[in-house]
Amino acid sequence: MKTYNVFLDYYDKIVRSVNNPIEEELDFLINDCLKKYLPNAHSILETACWTWVIARELIANWYKVTWLDISEEMLEKAKENIWEKNIVLWDMTNFDLKTNFDSILCNYNSICHLLSWQEWQNFFDMSFKHLKTWWILIFDINTIFEFENITRDFAQFYNYWDDTVCLEMFKQNWYYEWLVKIFKKSKDNKYDLIEEIIKENSFEINKIKKQLKEKWFEILDIIDYHYKEVNENSERVYFICKKIIN
Ligand SMILES: C[S@@+](CC[C@H](N)C(=O)[O-])C[C@H]1O[C@@H](n2cnc3c(N)ncnc32)[C@H](O)[C@@H]1O
Repeated sequence: MKTYNVFLDYYDKIVRSVNNPIEEELDFLINDCLKKYLPNAHSILETACWTWVIARELIANWYKVTWLDISEEMLEKAKENIWEKNIVLWDMTNFDLKTNFDSILCNYNSICHLLSWQEWQNFFDMSFKHLKTWWILIFDINTIFEFENITRDFAQFYNYWDDTVCLEMFKQNWYYEWLVKIFKKSKDNKYDLIEEIIKENSFEINKIKKQLKEKWFEILDIIDYHYKEVNENSERVYFICKKIIN
């Protein structure tokens, strides 16, 4: 079973739907994060970039963006949609770009695609290695609270073109699994069922904070994306972290 290959065509429509407009997310990322904490930033490495929607807007705001993803299909799609071609195929837990950036961004709970705590630590190490000293790592997580909520009696259905997409999440032993079912209309007016599985995981906010401090990041802010104040019911949380030594 493949991951994101078919879901790719529906992803932006679903995750940036009326409940979660992309304009609000971009305003938050550009004005409340980048311009607030990095008024002079120019170069950004967007890890796990997938869609071009974020990169395109960053470029429109005069940032110089390099984007990195582990999926060749994503990057091919991105190339079709953006004129700047600073694109690298690499695993965000282990890469070496031989350059340092003003900011590293890992948006839309992409870090949660790393299942083990060791991979999260490796990502922090890679971010540290590729950031200029005193500059900023920005990433967001889906909290454990959010994943636990979604796994409880949750199914969502979306209709696009003639197709229907059903999303469900199940808890596995130590991680979570999205089951994406796509009922795709074929030429002979029948429906093919295509299934994809996307695995995600999360860790306690305090554990992440402790690890970041041990890896020589100062945490400038932790923001609840929806309600600003982080509490035990926060669903999506952004971390703004400054690299403090070389
Ligand atoms: C939720 S999507 C990204 C969303 C995107 N950041 C945004 O804001 O629209 C998750 C992305 O993470 C990528 N990904 C998963 N594991 C990765 C890894 N180890 N290294 C780099 N990219 C990875 C997937 O290929 C996919 O493009």
